Amino acid sequence: MDSAPLIRDEEVFLRMNLAERIQHWLLISTFFFLIVTGLPLFFYDVKFFKLLLPTGRSFYVRGIIHRVAAVLMIANLVWHLFYAALTRRGRDNFKEMLPRWKDVKDAIELFGYNVGLTRFLQRRGIGKKFFQKHPYWLFEKHPLYGRYNFVEKFEYWALGWGSLVMIFSGFFMWNVELSLRLFPLWVHDIFIIIHGYEAILAFLAVIIWHMYNVHLSPEVFPMSKVWLTGKITGQELRLLHPLEYEQVLEERRKTLSAEAL
Ligand code: HEM
Repeated sequence: MDSAPLIRDEEVFLRMNLAERIQHWLLISTFFFLIVTGLPLFFYDVKFFKLLLPTGRSFYVRGIIHRVAAVLMIANLVWHLFYAALTRRGRDNFKEMLPRWKDVKDAIELFGYNVGLTRFLQRRGIGKKFFQKHPYWLFEKHPLYGRYNFVEKFEYWALGWGSLVMIFSGFFMWNVELSLRLFPLWVHDIFIIIHGYEAILAFLAVIIWHMYNVHLSPEVFPMSKVWLTGKITGQELRLLHPLEYEQVLEERRKTLSAEAL
């Protein structure tokens, strides 16, 4: 069936509304300040960071900025939780973000598709009978995604889990007396270690993984503008989220046939 008239390639769809974009901007800026004011402490032995914070005063201001950014990050997270619980769109997005069995299958299929090992073996005549019987394992097609693909879901939940770890450990680093009243010193030391290494993990995940997915990946290069405009085109919906595209198409078909009756 020709779907062109039902969804035009130039048609504009809303992917992130203003509230969602503000949450994302707040996340970017608080994360930036937390990294910039946190890492110099973690790497204080490195000369460069010592030069960045030459005086006791600059060191003190760094700590204040870190705490202000931490409070704003927590406020943003609370806003996001209320948004996800109390608004229709927030609940729908949240449901779409829940991990499903299909995500595991998609991850395996994408890996198999990208590596192409089974197709290579088949071309060489290895395992011919097996692949005739089980063509699935040739991974000939790229998996089809809905509103959120497994990478986006993984990033979302990693961010949620990472934020909880940073907030919990950061809270006790902020309130040392309370921490030492509740836990032995070695537990407090573990909070500091976890906070520092989780920060490095988060930093690397953002600059390598997230930046690749939203900037460098050939599908969106030089940059997905969704975080700025909140919009994607019908063509992007069709190529990047084909199952959601099908859903919209199906709804429109139904509306059309209801109108025709
Ligand atoms: C993604 C978020 C965060 C990142 C990337 C981050 C990063 C860091 C890093 C790298 C350090 C140095 C750790 C060390 O010396 O080994 C640090 C220290 C600290 N962080 Fe965070 N942090 C984050 C969130 C938070 C939050 C939410 C809080 C408070 C609830 C917090 C409170 C603190 C405190 C009190 C310190 C001790 C040193 C100081 O800044 O005075 N952090 N942070």
